[in-house]
Amino acid sequence: MRRGRTPQAGVFAARHLTGPDVKDFTPVNDVSAALTPAALTDRSVLSERSGVRCESACWAGRPVFLKTLVFDDPDTRARFEHEGSVARSVRHPLIVSPVAQSRDTLVFPLVDGVTLRDRLDQAPLAPDEATLVAGGVLAAVAALHAGGVTHHDLKPENVMLDGGRAAFDAVRVIDFGMSHSVHLPLDIHSGTRMGTPHFMAPEQFLGVRGDPRSDLYSVGVLLFDCLAGGPPFEDAFGWLAGLNECRAALPGPEALHGLLGQCLSRERERRPASAPALYADLSSAREALGLSPLPDLSAWTGECP
Ligand SMILES: Nc1ncnc2c1ncn2[C@@H]1O[C@H](COP(=O)(O)OP(=O)(O)O)[C@@H](O)[C@H]1O
Ligand SMILES: [Mg+2]
Repeated sequence: MRRGRTPQAGVFAARHLTGPDVKDFTPVNDVSAALTPAALTDRSVLSERSGVRCESACWAGRPVFLKTLVFDDPDTRARFEHEGSVARSVRHPLIVSPVAQSRDTLVFPLVDGVTLRDRLDQAPLAPDEATLVAGGVLAAVAALHAGGVTHHDLKPENVMLDGGRAAFDAVRVIDFGMSHSVHLPLDIHSGTRMGTPHFMAPEQFLGVRGDPRSDLYSVGVLLFDCLAGGPPFEDAFGWLAGLNECRAALPGPEALHGLLGQCLSRERERRPASAPALYADLSSAREALGLSPLPDLSAWTGECP
């Protein structure tokens, strides 16, 4: 549900931006000297919605993913700049942050893989793979939360799997279009009910922003979806509005049911206290299933043991 901030026709004079704006790119990451401003080539449009065009391209010989503002109205630009600011603020091996930007374009490394949604469209994941993917997402989420960011739109469409592998170190969290950061003075989505109904925590539906426990709810739905091949609440709006409590049976082995049930609590206080706490619970559940524990979160540097 993406509502509340779309400008009404005629309120803003939207300017349709044309042509690439390549001359002003500023590297924003620790990139090699080869990635200094240069021409973008091989641009190929993947999608365009909400005033933003997504493309794959090549920049200084490197495959990149571009998000370009194509409608220059104040609201769309503010959202776009907010997304760029949040995405730039956190660096982690399992998070896709921009490597460069211009006024109208964000340049990300191109993930050579598929979304978790694409993968789940084939078949649900086995408990081993599902918990590794959820563990990777949680490792990224823990880094986000430590940096004062709540993602607010965690779902299989916003998790990519590098190389198409359902593995811990293949996880890449993307899309900070709905995120909240305690370090940004203006929360562009304040007071809105933005999010994706099946994956949105009930308090987020009521307009609460910036509570990290909202992301833990979404991770719970994501793990549920990985195991069951579908989300827990058929009538997501009815559940969010408090009109029904009808949840599908918890999927997968019983060792995962405790943490799944906690994550999906309507009451935030009943969810795990933090991303690292949920990560520890997930790792223990894997061990109870005879699987290897998740990597040590504090020591993990991007390599899988
Ligand atoms: N860095 C990337 N590399 C490859 N594909 C990407 C990358 N980032 C996003 N995508 C693809 O583009 C889609 C849309 O990107 P996303 O950032 O989620 O924007 P939107 O706001 O339109 O959801 C994703 O679901 C994914 O399929
Ligand atoms: Mg997205």
